[in-house]
Amino acid sequence: MVLILPQLLNEADLAHAHTLLATAPWADGRTGAGSQAVQAKNNEQLPRDCDASREIGAMVLRALDRSPQFLAACLPRKVFPPRINRYSGGANYYGKHVDGAIRFTEGGMRVRTDVSCTVFLSDPTEYDGGELAVYEAGTTRHVKLPSGHAVLYPASHVHEVTPVTRGARIAAFFWVESMVRADAQRQLLHEFDLALTQLRESAGDSDTTVALVGTYHNLLRMWAET
Ligand code: NI
Repeated sequence: MVLILPQLLNEADLAHAHTLLATAPWADGRTGAGSQAVQAKNNEQLPRDCDASREIGAMVLRALDRSPQFLAACLPRKVFPPRINRYSGGANYYGKHVDGAIRFTEGGMRVRTDVSCTVFLSDPTEYDGGELAVYEAGTTRHVKLPSGHAVLYPASHVHEVTPVTRGARIAAFFWVESMVRADAQRQLLHEFDLALTQLRESAGDSDTTVALVGTYHNLLRMWAET
């Protein structure tokens, strides 16, 4: 599942983010990467304790709470606090890698990385290259989105950020531990939810839709860990 969340951040959010980023203290992105990832990684990151990290991270979390699509697709149990990275100049790519299965927050919380998310903070007109490429069963999905849009993809997939050859690509990224660990089960529940919502909108509620809502929740009850 590669899912796009259009306009996760609104114009006011983006304007505030860009103000914060104008004076942000960028650092080498390789600190904190695992041993395999560090070989492939060549970008910059903001320290987690700076104003821009804190405020943009909180902004992204608020936006996720407002997004029914995020909640239905991810069924989140824990969200890793968003980090901010930049690809530009000589630090401009992150080669093929997989994300570590377990991340530790500064507070010592463990988050299993079921879903990866990137929130684009730069507009595609501001840079060349810098596509997120996600490899799945012999196919490659290239993703480069307008600022404020986000993409969700299974953290289990090999992925990379291709070299930025002009300008700068700034994005927020984080991971979600889902209540439903398996991607296939999560995807089935999301498709069920979408179809049921359309049915209820077009045909209204009936004994049949009530029964289907019950089936959705019974599947969720069977598969979810809270
Ligand atoms: Ni990654």
